[in-house]
Amino acid sequence: MTKRTPLIAGNWKLNKTIDESKALAGAIAAHVGAGLACEAVVGPVATSFAAVKQSLEGSAVGLAAQNTHWEDSGAWTGELSPTLLVDAGCGYCIIGHSERRQFFGETDEGVRKKVGALLVHKVVPILCVGESLEQREAGKTLDVVLGQIDAATEGYDAVALAPLVVAYEPIWAIGTGLTAKAEDAQEVHAAIRGRLAELKGQSWADSVRILYGGSVKPSNADELLSQPDVDGALVGGASLTPDNFIPIIDAGVRRAES
Ligand code: PGA
Repeated sequence: MTKRTPLIAGNWKLNKTIDESKALAGAIAAHVGAGLACEAVVGPVATSFAAVKQSLEGSAVGLAAQNTHWEDSGAWTGELSPTLLVDAGCGYCIIGHSERRQFFGETDEGVRKKVGALLVHKVVPILCVGESLEQREAGKTLDVVLGQIDAATEGYDAVALAPLVVAYEPIWAIGTGLTAKAEDAQEVHAAIRGRLAELKGQSWADSVRILYGGSVKPSNADELLSQPDVDGALVGGASLTPDNFIPIIDAGVRRAES
């Protein structure tokens, strides 16, 4: 079986000033130090990239953006580009988060173009997929999630897609305190991996990290990460304090060492 390095990613969303971001990143970096058995990244708001990068210096914690445009530059008021993310030191970028799909009109085609642009610039895309409560109750979870996977990967081959990370985030579990049961998350993760294999081959599918997101916290991280196809976590609320995020990184380390 392919051994996948677990990834614990913090999505700070629209939270924290530069000083607050520095303090949080510094506390996480101090705990993690220079070597880590799993990967850990934090995703601050863009105005804090430089400060957070400095706080993470010398630690194994990486920097993630929360969104990007697909173009490199030009007349796109208010956007950031993969080129600028690289310039700011971001090695990862969350894309297709349900909040962006829901509130900012992000489409499957836009997400697909962002995947391609990030891959060209060697920024790891963390591609979010997930169903709403209504869709789950109507038995459409796999249709929705696998449809998002198909759309986001169309036109790219397994070589180009090598670094892709997928995050399964049921919308009803985000910020609600409700978490998918570990077995339910596993079922969806296994279906995603199965579809990735059908689309671009088993060996690539076996190497792709599939994170779970949606009310991950220290008390449920180990159980979720004990599932065979849950390779990490995308963490919102619990990534905003060292007391919550550090134990989730530690759960990632336990998974890596298991
Ligand atoms: P949550 O958010 O951990 O606060 O549920 C997860 C996310 O939206 O990435």
